[in-house]
Amino acid sequence: MKRQLIVAGNWKMNKNLMEAFTLASGVLVKAKKMSDQVEIVLAPPAPYLHTINSMSKDTAHVNIAAQNCHFEPNGAYTGEISAEMLHSMNIAYVILGHSERRKHFQENHEILAKKVSAAIKAGMKIIFCCGEPLEVRASETQERFVLQQLEESLFHLTEVEMKQVVVAYEPIWAIGTGKTASPAQAQEMHQFIRKQLATKYTPKLADACSILYGGSCNPSNAAELFAQPDVDGGLVGGASLKPEDFLQIIQARAKQT
Ligand code: 13P
Repeated sequence: MKRQLIVAGNWKMNKNLMEAFTLASGVLVKAKKMSDQVEIVLAPPAPYLHTINSMSKDTAHVNIAAQNCHFEPNGAYTGEISAEMLHSMNIAYVILGHSERRKHFQENHEILAKKVSAAIKAGMKIIFCCGEPLEVRASETQERFVLQQLEESLFHLTEVEMKQVVVAYEPIWAIGTGKTASPAQAQEMHQFIRKQLATKYTPKLADACSILYGGSCNPSNAAELFAQPDVDGGLVGGASLKPEDFLQIIQARAKQT
Protein backbone atom coordinates (compact mmCIF):
# COMPACT_ATOMS: atom_id res chain seq x y z
CA MET A 1 0.00 0.00 0.00
CA LYS A 2 1.36 3.38 -0.98
CA ARG A 3 0.56 5.83 1.77
CA GLN A 4 0.01 9.54 1.19
CA LEU A 5 3.25 11.40 1.88
CA ILE A 6 2.64 14.68 3.69
CA VAL A 7 4.77 17.58 4.83
CA ALA A 8 2.79 20.00 6.99
CA GLY A 9 3.92 23.37 8.30
CA ASN A 10 2.49 24.47 11.63
CA TRP A 11 3.13 28.20 11.81
CA LYS A 12 1.79 28.37 15.38
CA MET A 13 1.24 31.99 16.56
CA ASN A 14 3.75 33.58 14.20
CA LYS A 15 3.79 36.15 11.37
CA ASN A 16 1.81 39.34 10.88
CA LEU A 17 -0.49 39.66 7.88
CA MET A 18 2.11 40.80 5.35
CA GLU A 19 4.67 38.30 6.58
CA ALA A 20 2.11 35.52 6.34
CA PHE A 21 1.27 36.37 2.73
CA THR A 22 4.96 36.58 1.85
CA LEU A 23 5.60 33.17 3.42
CA ALA A 24 2.58 31.55 1.79
CA SER A 25 3.45 33.01 -1.63
CA GLY A 26 7.07 31.91 -1.28
CA VAL A 27 5.99 28.32 -0.62
CA LEU A 28 3.19 28.28 -3.21
CA VAL A 29 5.29 29.61 -6.10
CA LYS A 30 7.71 26.71 -5.67
CA ALA A 31 5.08 24.14 -4.70
CA LYS A 32 3.26 24.68 -8.00
CA LYS A 33 6.38 23.51 -9.85
CA MET A 34 6.87 20.44 -7.65
CA SER A 35 5.45 17.05 -8.43
CA ASP A 36 2.24 16.22 -6.62
CA GLN A 37 3.57 13.09 -4.91
CA VAL A 38 3.96 14.96 -1.61
CA GLU A 39 0.89 16.63 -0.14
CA ILE A 40 1.83 19.99 1.35
CA VAL A 41 -0.24 21.29 4.24
CA LEU A 42 0.01 24.85 5.56
CA ALA A 43 -1.40 25.65 8.99
CA PRO A 44 -1.36 29.45 9.34
CA PRO A 45 -2.93 31.37 12.22
CA ALA A 46 -6.74 31.47 11.99
CA PRO A 47 -7.15 35.07 10.70
CA TYR A 48 -5.19 34.20 7.54
CA LEU A 49 -6.88 30.87 6.77
CA HIS A 50 -9.42 32.14 4.29
CA THR A 51 -7.02 34.17 2.15
CA ILE A 52 -4.25 31.60 2.17
CA ASN A 53 -6.77 28.91 1.27
CA SER A 54 -7.87 31.01 -1.72
CA MET A 55 -4.24 31.57 -2.72
CA SER A 56 -3.63 27.81 -2.78
CA LYS A 57 -6.85 26.86 -4.56
CA ASP A 58 -5.30 26.09 -7.93
CA THR A 59 -2.54 23.86 -6.47
CA ALA A 60 -4.23 20.53 -5.85
CA HIS A 61 -1.45 19.02 -3.73
CA VAL A 62 -1.51 21.95 -1.28
CA ASN A 63 -4.08 21.90 1.52
CA ILE A 64 -4.72 24.21 4.44
CA ALA A 65 -5.11 23.28 8.10
CA ALA A 66 -6.52 25.16 11.06
CA GLN A 67 -4.50 24.86 14.27
CA ASN A 68 -7.53 24.28 16.49
CA CYS A 69 -11.31 24.18 16.62
CA HIS A 70 -14.04 24.14 19.25
CA PHE A 71 -16.14 21.04 19.89
CA GLU A 72 -19.52 22.76 19.53
CA PRO A 73 -20.83 23.65 16.06
CA ASN A 74 -21.92 27.16 17.18
CA GLY A 75 -23.08 29.07 20.23
CA ALA A 76 -22.01 31.42 22.99
CA TYR A 77 -18.27 30.65 22.99
CA THR A 78 -16.70 34.06 22.48
CA GLY A 79 -13.41 33.90 20.63
CA GLU A 80 -13.78 30.31 19.46
CA ILE A 81 -13.98 28.82 15.95
CA SER A 82 -16.03 25.74 15.13
CA ALA A 83 -15.18 22.90 12.77
CA GLU A 84 -18.38 23.72 10.92
CA MET A 85 -17.09 27.22 10.19
CA LEU A 86 -13.76 25.87 8.99
CA HIS A 87 -15.50 23.36 6.77
CA SER A 88 -17.70 26.10 5.32
CA MET A 89 -14.47 27.89 4.35
CA ASN A 90 -13.26 24.72 2.58
CA ILE A 91 -10.38 24.28 5.00
CA ALA A 92 -9.35 20.64 4.63
CA TYR A 93 -7.67 19.83 7.96
CA VAL A 94 -7.64 20.74 11.61
CA ILE A 95 -4.69 19.99 13.90
CA LEU A 96 -5.90 18.55 17.21
CA GLY A 97 -4.07 17.29 20.29
CA HIS A 98 -0.98 19.45 19.87
CA SER A 99 1.08 19.40 23.07
CA GLU A 100 0.99 23.21 23.24
CA ARG A 101 -2.82 23.12 23.31
CA ARG A 102 -2.74 20.34 25.90
CA LYS A 103 -0.28 22.31 28.07
CA HIS A 104 -1.35 25.95 27.74
CA PHE A 105 -5.07 25.48 27.17
CA GLN A 106 -5.72 22.47 29.39
CA GLU A 107 -6.98 20.29 26.56
CA ASN A 108 -7.34 16.88 28.15
CA HIS A 109 -8.27 13.53 26.61
CA GLU A 110 -11.97 14.16 27.06
CA ILE A 111 -11.99 17.60 25.43
CA LEU A 112 -9.87 16.28 22.58
CA ALA A 113 -12.21 13.34 22.02
CA LYS A 114 -15.06 15.85 21.67
CA LYS A 115 -13.05 18.01 19.27
CA VAL A 116 -12.12 14.95 17.21
CA SER A 117 -15.79 13.95 16.93
CA ALA A 118 -16.86 17.50 16.06
CA ALA A 119 -14.26 17.83 13.31
CA ILE A 120 -15.20 14.49 11.73
CA LYS A 121 -18.89 15.32 11.96
CA ALA A 122 -18.25 18.62 10.20
CA GLY A 123 -16.50 16.76 7.36
CA MET A 124 -12.93 17.75 8.14
CA LYS A 125 -9.75 15.72 8.14
CA ILE A 126 -7.68 15.70 11.32
CA ILE A 127 -3.98 15.80 12.05
CA PHE A 128 -3.99 14.24 15.50
CA CYS A 129 -0.86 14.89 17.56
CA CYS A 130 0.46 12.60 20.25
CA GLY A 131 3.80 12.31 22.02
CA GLU A 132 5.42 11.99 25.40
CA PRO A 133 7.27 14.44 27.67
CA LEU A 134 10.91 13.90 28.59
CA GLU A 135 10.26 12.25 31.95
CA VAL A 136 8.08 9.62 30.30
CA ARG A 137 10.78 8.92 27.71
CA ALA A 138 13.33 8.73 30.54
CA SER A 139 11.24 6.10 32.30
CA GLU A 140 10.80 4.20 29.02
CA THR A 141 7.02 4.25 29.27
CA GLN A 142 6.44 6.30 26.10
CA GLU A 143 4.49 3.57 24.32
CA ARG A 144 1.97 3.26 27.12
CA PHE A 145 1.67 7.07 27.27
CA VAL A 146 1.03 7.47 23.52
CA LEU A 147 -1.36 4.51 23.45
CA GLN A 148 -3.44 6.17 26.15
CA GLN A 149 -3.60 9.39 24.09
CA LEU A 150 -4.85 7.40 21.10
CA GLU A 151 -7.29 5.28 23.11
CA GLU A 152 -8.86 8.16 25.01
CA SER A 153 -9.23 10.73 22.24
CA LEU A 154 -9.19 8.92 18.91
CA PHE A 155 -10.17 5.27 19.13
CA HIS A 156 -13.85 6.03 19.67
CA LEU A 157 -14.01 6.77 15.93
CA THR A 158 -15.44 4.18 13.57
CA GLU A 159 -13.23 2.67 10.91
CA VAL A 160 -14.77 4.89 8.22
CA GLU A 161 -14.19 7.99 10.36
CA MET A 162 -10.66 6.96 11.23
CA LYS A 163 -9.76 7.09 7.53
CA GLN A 164 -9.99 10.89 7.81
CA VAL A 165 -7.20 10.99 10.40
CA VAL A 166 -3.47 11.58 9.96
CA VAL A 167 -1.45 10.86 13.10
CA ALA A 168 1.51 13.05 14.04
CA TYR A 169 4.02 11.74 16.57
CA GLU A 170 5.58 14.74 18.26
CA PRO A 171 7.74 13.89 21.28
CA ILE A 172 7.43 16.97 23.50
CA TRP A 173 11.13 16.96 24.33
CA ALA A 174 11.89 17.45 20.64
CA ILE A 175 9.51 20.36 19.98
CA GLY A 176 11.30 23.68 19.51
CA THR A 177 14.35 22.33 21.34
CA GLY A 178 16.62 21.55 18.42
CA LYS A 179 16.72 18.01 19.83
CA THR A 180 15.26 15.62 17.26
CA ALA A 181 14.21 12.05 17.93
CA SER A 182 16.73 9.74 16.30
CA PRO A 183 15.48 8.04 13.15
CA ALA A 184 15.40 4.78 15.14
CA GLN A 185 13.34 6.33 17.95
CA ALA A 186 10.90 7.82 15.44
CA GLN A 187 10.59 4.55 13.51
CA GLU A 188 10.03 2.55 16.71
CA MET A 189 7.14 4.76 17.82
CA HIS A 190 5.60 5.07 14.36
CA GLN A 191 5.66 1.29 14.00
CA PHE A 192 4.07 0.97 17.44
CA ILE A 193 1.30 3.44 16.50
CA ARG A 194 0.63 1.58 13.25
CA LYS A 195 0.45 -1.71 15.16
CA GLN A 196 -2.14 -0.20 17.51
CA LEU A 197 -4.19 1.00 14.55
CA ALA A 198 -4.07 -2.51 13.10
CA THR A 199 -5.20 -4.04 16.39
CA LYS A 200 -7.97 -1.54 17.03
CA TYR A 201 -9.15 -1.30 13.40
CA THR A 202 -7.70 -3.38 10.58
CA PRO A 203 -4.22 -3.99 9.16
CA LYS A 204 -5.49 -2.42 5.93
CA LEU A 205 -6.47 0.81 7.67
CA ALA A 206 -3.18 0.88 9.61
CA ASP A 207 -1.24 0.37 6.42
CA ALA A 208 -3.04 3.26 4.73
CA CYS A 209 -2.76 5.76 7.62
CA SER A 210 -0.12 8.47 7.18
CA ILE A 211 1.96 8.96 10.32
CA LEU A 212 4.03 12.15 10.46
CA TYR A 213 7.00 12.98 12.68
CA GLY A 214 7.23 16.36 14.38
CA GLY A 215 9.87 17.90 16.64
CA SER A 216 12.84 19.97 15.39
CA CYS A 217 12.48 18.55 11.90
CA ASN A 218 14.79 20.56 9.60
CA PRO A 219 16.55 20.34 6.24
CA SER A 220 19.54 18.51 7.74
CA ASN A 221 17.65 15.72 9.53
CA ALA A 222 14.55 15.32 7.34
CA ALA A 223 16.04 12.85 4.85
CA GLU A 224 17.12 10.31 7.46
CA LEU A 225 13.81 10.56 9.31
CA PHE A 226 11.85 10.10 6.07
CA ALA A 227 14.00 7.11 5.15
CA GLN A 228 12.29 5.16 7.96
CA PRO A 229 9.60 2.84 6.61
CA ASP A 230 6.84 4.07 8.94
CA VAL A 231 7.63 7.80 8.77
CA ASP A 232 5.34 9.13 6.05
CA GLY A 233 6.22 12.79 6.40
CA GLY A 234 6.65 15.62 8.85
CA LEU A 235 4.76 18.16 10.93
CA VAL A 236 7.20 21.03 10.93
CA GLY A 237 7.16 24.04 13.28
CA GLY A 238 10.10 26.46 13.26
CA ALA A 239 11.52 25.37 9.89
CA SER A 240 8.15 25.92 8.19
CA LEU A 241 8.49 29.68 8.83
CA LYS A 242 11.37 29.89 6.34
CA PRO A 243 10.28 29.03 2.79
CA GLU A 244 13.71 27.70 1.75
CA ASP A 245 13.94 25.35 4.74
CA PHE A 246 10.35 24.15 4.39
CA LEU A 247 10.80 23.54 0.66
CA GLN A 248 13.99 21.58 1.32
CA ILE A 249 12.10 19.37 3.76
CA ILE A 250 9.40 18.76 1.13
CA GLN A 251 12.10 17.91 -1.39
CA ALA A 252 13.69 15.50 1.09
CA ARG A 253 10.32 13.74 1.36
CA ALA A 254 9.85 13.65 -2.41
CA LYS A 255 13.27 12.07 -2.92
CA GLN A 256 12.53 9.19 -0.57
CA THR A 257 9.61 7.77 -2.53
P1 13P B 1 9.38 22.51 15.83
O1 13P B 1 9.59 21.97 14.43
O2 13P B 1 9.61 23.98 15.93
O3 13P B 1 10.15 21.70 16.83
O4 13P B 1 7.83 22.29 16.18
C1 13P B 1 7.24 21.07 15.93
C2 13P B 1 5.78 21.21 16.12
O5 13P B 1 5.30 21.42 17.23
C3 13P B 1 4.91 21.11 14.95
O6 13P B 1 3.57 21.02 15.29
